[in-house]
Amino acid sequence: MQIPRLHPDTIEAVKERADIYDVVSEHVVLRRRGRDYVGLCPFHDEKSPSFTVSQSKQMYYCFGCQAGGNSIKFLMELQKHSFSEVVLDLARRYQVTVKTLAPEESRSLQHQISLREQLYQVLATTAQFYQHALKNVAHGALEYLRDKRQLSDEVIGQFALGYAPGGWDTLYRYLVEDKHYPVQLVEKAGLIKPREGSGYYDVFRDRLMIPIRDVMGRVIAFGGRTMKEGVQPKYLNSPETELFSKGRTLFALDAAKNGIAQFDQAIVVEGYFDAIALHAAGINNAVASLGTALSLEQVKLALRYSESKQLVLNFDADKAGINAAEKAIGAIADLAYKGEVALRILNIPNGKDADEYLKSYSAEAYRQLLANAPIWIDWQIQEIIKNRDLKQATDYQQVSQQIVKLLKNIANKDTLTYYISHCAEILSLGNSQLVPLRVENLLTQIAPEKPNNSDKPRFYQRLEKSNYASSNTGQSKLTSQQATLGKTENSLLARAEALLLRIYLHCPGQRNNIIKELEERDLQFSLSHHRFLWQNILAITDEIHDTINSEIDLISRLQDICLEFTEESELISHLFILTEKAKTEIMRSPQVVQATIARMEEVLCEKRIQYFVKLLQECDSQIEPEQYDSYYQAFYREKIRQQELERQRQFTIIDLL
Ligand code: UTP
Ligand code: MN
Repeated sequence: MQIPRLHPDTIEAVKERADIYDVVSEHVVLRRRGRDYVGLCPFHDEKSPSFTVSQSKQMYYCFGCQAGGNSIKFLMELQKHSFSEVVLDLARRYQVTVKTLAPEESRSLQHQISLREQLYQVLATTAQFYQHALKNVAHGALEYLRDKRQLSDEVIGQFALGYAPGGWDTLYRYLVEDKHYPVQLVEKAGLIKPREGSGYYDVFRDRLMIPIRDVMGRVIAFGGRTMKEGVQPKYLNSPETELFSKGRTLFALDAAKNGIAQFDQAIVVEGYFDAIALHAAGINNAVASLGTALSLEQVKLALRYSESKQLVLNFDADKAGINAAEKAIGAIADLAYKGEVALRILNIPNGKDADEYLKSYSAEAYRQLLANAPIWIDWQIQEIIKNRDLKQATDYQQVSQQIVKLLKNIANKDTLTYYISHCAEILSLGNSQLVPLRVENLLTQIAPEKPNNSDKPRFYQRLEKSNYASSNTGQSKLTSQQATLGKTENSLLARAEALLLRIYLHCPGQRNNIIKELEERDLQFSLSHHRFLWQNILAITDEIHDTINSEIDLISRLQDICLEFTEESELISHLFILTEKAKTEIMRSPQVVQATIARMEEVLCEKRIQYFVKLLQECDSQIEPEQYDSYYQAFYREKIRQQELERQRQFTIIDLL
């Protein structure tokens, strides 16, 4: 498309409206961090977020790949569009009048934009027409809403519910003959279809009409429900149009966005009336998925408004609903494993949907269900063991196979460790002595069939790589090339250690606390270059204590030392730098130190668990029951401690740097 030169006023107006958060969050899941937002950079491959968005500056910047700019630049880079194309797109979206430098050109542009505007207009008129029909000509439709659906007139008005009259072309005649809308426009709006031969007929006839609105509250489509038993389809929806794309729309998002922000949680239900019933009951953070498999895009849309990205899927408990939930999990599992969405699944008891449930129970009771809804992995485990008798060999085998399949997908090591022991407990059927064996079985099964050049399961290898590398001092030294690539801090543990060292170096107020915690818990740094740095820190700290001169600058002394140890220095010199922003964050949250240290202790804890598992395997509970029992007790204590530690480091410290 040849785009004429845009008037500077237009560019300015677009810049003003196209909020950087709005624009970016359509493509990247963003989380609040302090006053800014962070997410995974869309311009390079990364596992931990280094992409930041600042609303106050209206800028984005990636610490990983140095991409940065304003919202227009973001879209240009992402979509590979020219400056003018992006500005034009944004102008359409934010309804900015486009002025170009030459007036004729401006007219042709205005024409394209006005198609959308005209579509909005015809849909708005139609919604009013349906609303009017509901009150004046509806054959039982208003009664249906009031009696069967138990909706108040207020709610009926809030959702602008209406009625499409029964004739073949009532709407057609109203819009085209009375209101003089062009036929093609009405057809493009998805409201009429050409008859065979000639003429047009209404898409929606004798149906209860539910307008579907965009986030800004503009009608973009309709859903129409029949009020007669047995008429197919039960719901008829607008076709895809210039304005409406099913997979990118959530019903009631316009009404729910404030509620989602307020409760910091989005509820996604299946049906229009489920969402309406929830809003009517004051649960105004609910949206509906329009009956299709929930898409990643829809999820991101809802999560834009939840700061901690909490999503509850409340799908029907029937087979179709459970399949839909499984599908939805599939679509967003990636996000969920990365912790980019905190996903829960709610199945209402007795197979009810939200709408039915609220007819007999209070909003409070529903909130209780929400609060108790299981995390998605737990839900899947429940689904696997539902209606199974684990004492039966075939059931047991099938269940354990499915569990293995589920566990195999869990990429996060900590989550995996937790669920392995959880599932091992389930598979042990209450016989706690069996747990270590089951843990071992699961570990072996989730390892790939042919582990290369080692007979150890991959899980162990991974553990060793990430956590235990340094117990093997020789091997833990990384080449300088890797160091410059930033790979040294790959594992969570390494990053936790690095963070702790940074805090020690840059926040003197935390120093005593750090030393105390490490000593009390008997913790060591596991990477050799971290140990090197720590030893030197301690030495200098002693020296500082011994001299009256407390002005000795720790960091500059360390840098002196580094001059002699070039190999180590390459690996640690980046720790001598701390951005002001990170520093403020650290000062603000005393839990950071706690969480970092918890992470380090977890590694020890994991080692001890492995150790006791080994002892248990070598011990025969028949021959040495007491010995076995004491190992088991020890194993169990560590497990509990591990969970406690996991809680302590819940908030993701590692994101800080
Ligand atoms: P359900 O059949 O579960 O609807 O479909 P429901 O909301 O419980 O229906 P009521 O309570 O009987 O009115 C859930 C959603 O799937 C879509 C609609 O969006 C509906 O709200 N759907 C369903 C269709 O698009 N077409 C259909 O024929 C059926
Ligand atoms: Mn229903």
